Amino acid sequence: MTTLEDAKVTPVVLGGVRGGPSVPTLRRDRWWIQPVVTVTVLAAFVGYATWAAFINKDYYVGAAMHRNLISPFYSPCLTASCVPGSHPGTVISWWTISPALLILIFPLGFRLTCYYYRKAYYRSFWWAPPACAVSDAHGSYRGESKFPLIFQNIHRYFFYAGLVFNTLLTIDAIEAFRQPGYGIGFSVGTAVLLINASLLWLYSLSCHSCRHLCGGGVKQFSRSPIRHRIWKTLTPLNAHHMVFAWMSLVFVAFTDVYVRLVASGTIHDYGFHF
Ligand code: FES
Repeated sequence: MTTLEDAKVTPVVLGGVRGGPSVPTLRRDRWWIQPVVTVTVLAAFVGYATWAAFINKDYYVGAAMHRNLISPFYSPCLTASCVPGSHPGTVISWWTISPALLILIFPLGFRLTCYYYRKAYYRSFWWAPPACAVSDAHGSYRGESKFPLIFQNIHRYFFYAGLVFNTLLTIDAIEAFRQPGYGIGFSVGTAVLLINASLLWLYSLSCHSCRHLCGGGVKQFSRSPIRHRIWKTLTPLNAHHMVFAWMSLVFVAFTDVYVRLVASGTIHDYGFHF
């Protein structure tokens, strides 16, 4: 008869330990799928965005095609290097390389410091820890109170910048109704720009900083009925922040791909005009 003393003992801990995967986890589910998917999608996005930012062409569909579509990676196009028609007038004359390199600092900074993305990439890339009840790959934990992670605290300011960009991309979507030479019309490109702007608004309005800005610090909601109402509206959105984060990330890349394919003549932007 096998006694408890004879049995092979496997050291496990419920909460995981620091310092690497030397102690196996009790989890028997496929906990690794989520980190693998996160790494794959984020790496693909960063790779594509870097390529799209440096290529510096095919980001605007203009009057020659009776369209007014601009990629979100290149909007607002305010440098001397912008293609004609893609901007209201050159503002930054000394910037002569790709305008996207100047623009993307803000949306990427917003996403990089996002509370949800922090959780996603801390777990997936740094394994700190890779999942609940799985060993942390690092021996110590300093949180975000020291350099360089203390800079994550500027998220609120990127949120403000994000609102400006959302407004500009909404104007781009409205401008996409204008079809030079035809008048007012609607095309697949118009729909793509509208959906992109809507998803970016949902991502921003569901942001934790936004919710705190609207309802945080209020000691008595009854004395701040307007802020209470806004907070109550934003709270359900906030519960779905992760979903909006992924949807808007994928769709902003899709929007750039779509505009790029139309601008390069690879596909036709089907639509109609009045
Ligand atoms: S928490 Fe994700 S955008 Fe602010």
